[in-house]
Amino acid sequence: MNILGISCFYHDAAACLYRDGTIVAAAEEERFSRRKHDATMPVQAAAYCLAEGGISIDQIDYLVFYEKPLLKFGRMLTSAIETFPRGITQFVAAMPPWLREKLWVPALIREKLGYRGEILYSEHHLSHAASAFLMSPYQEAAILTADGIGEWASTTIGHGEGTSIELVKEIRFPHSLGLLYSAFTAWLGFEINEGEYKVMGMAAYGKPTQVDKVRQLIRQADDGGFALDTRYLAYQHSLHAWAPAFERLLGAPRTFDGDLDPRFVDVAASIQFVTEESMVKLAEAAHRLTGSRNLCLAGGVGLNVLANRAILRHTPFENLFVPPGAGDSGGAVGAAAYLYHTILGHARSEILESAYLGPGYSDDEVQRFLVERGIAYERVDEAELIERVADAIASDQVVGWFQGRMEFGPRALGARSILGNPRNAEMKTIINEKIKHREPFRPFAPSVAAEDANRFFEDVGPSPFMLLVADVHESQRAFLPAITHADGTARIQTVTERQNPRYYRLLRAVERRNGAPVVINTSFNVRGEPIVRTPADAYRCFSHTDMDLLTLGSFLVRADAKRADDPYPGRKRVGTADTVWVS
Ligand SMILES: [Fe+2]
Repeated sequence: MNILGISCFYHDAAACLYRDGTIVAAAEEERFSRRKHDATMPVQAAAYCLAEGGISIDQIDYLVFYEKPLLKFGRMLTSAIETFPRGITQFVAAMPPWLREKLWVPALIREKLGYRGEILYSEHHLSHAASAFLMSPYQEAAILTADGIGEWASTTIGHGEGTSIELVKEIRFPHSLGLLYSAFTAWLGFEINEGEYKVMGMAAYGKPTQVDKVRQLIRQADDGGFALDTRYLAYQHSLHAWAPAFERLLGAPRTFDGDLDPRFVDVAASIQFVTEESMVKLAEAAHRLTGSRNLCLAGGVGLNVLANRAILRHTPFENLFVPPGAGDSGGAVGAAAYLYHTILGHARSEILESAYLGPGYSDDEVQRFLVERGIAYERVDEAELIERVADAIASDQVVGWFQGRMEFGPRALGARSILGNPRNAEMKTIINEKIKHREPFRPFAPSVAAEDANRFFEDVGPSPFMLLVADVHESQRAFLPAITHADGTARIQTVTERQNPRYYRLLRAVERRNGAPVVINTSFNVRGEPIVRTPADAYRCFSHTDMDLLTLGSFLVRADAKRADDPYPGRKRVGTADTVWVS
């Protein structure tokens, strides 16, 4: 049975082909369209999924959309009426896309995907819940979902057992941890749905001195429930995130990427503190409800790795599973899995152990690309490839590492990654200057051979999707300075030989030179660009940056083979001293 899951029209559109209990393919549309967080109908991602499965759209048995568009429309209409006349501005502004696209989801699916069968609808938070629980290793678990907003719900807690999922309680719009965090993200001068990681990175440099003020925005009950004081917020009735009362409480917003002004850094630390506090209370409520040792977590707030650590530290849960597509792209997977297992009752057969669900390119395909473009290359066997890359990393070169199938979800996990030496304290600056041009307060994360993770990090379990954070052992912080964040933590990816054999062997080769099976792993892209998908994307990124070496499957391309005659379409270079790419 072939099921196509689709999520789109909010952010991070994606498609997933689910066949008989297994994910055949899953990918975000942004990787194909090259527009970051592309929310449009995932036409190219769906076409890829069908091709990977060797079928046409006519062979799809069911197509499931990840939420109920009419419920969502009802929520917008209701809040416009409740906040009238203030809410009418936002309602009117939101109407054209709704009328053009969202209310016509079935017609658009038929038109854009050429699909003629019946379309089914999951619910937004059920899709999140299913994307975690049905992919997890647990037969029984508590479930917590938290995001900005679905149809009405922003937060749910529930229970999963076998193939059944029951969401028992929910918190509804406008009360939302995700939207609260986004309001602070915007006030701190970052883009909503993009800058939340930056707030989290910034938090490490500050002290939560403004917690009392932040708590004025959110009332938290001991049963996990919370309510926002909407007088401080404006997203419920306007196109702005915060209301004038917010500025009276916390001051004028940060307007540009300046130095780390303590006023803003402490607010970042404070909203992070309050978010962790709320997530811990919600997780405790989920534990009281279920008595389970296992927690499955999804929704955009599940990408907040510090909150995930707080849950593991401060609640009775022993195990936590967060899927790689914890945000809305994962809804495509969750919706398909929910239909197959929970609605149709098929037993679960697979545990999601790795995130390599996207397109891959054979050596023949890579070679054809290199020959057609006249790019100088060397073809080497795997052993030599690994030795050469390990040599480059140990000598502080920056390597573009492209192999196997592309990752699903926002993290690069050793298939489309840029790698560097974690032992060199200057490496963060080097990678930023050569390639990434990121804010200096953002950390770079490590990949580590799973069996050795405890040598360097405290209390780490499996973290295959880079969604857990761990303290670097004090004794190891000077040994691995490039991946140790200001607060002594690192967001880690644990790698097993089974999950990614070639990447694992590379880690071992680095260990022979460096004494640690650890590399810096950052996503293969420049600022403002989605992660690369094809060999051509990778070569273009390589050519436009100061990366030292590129691997494409079994091929090595050296820096002297760069050719920057292929500009980034639709992008322009801005800035002077700190040149950045923007979309
Ligand atoms: Fe969501």
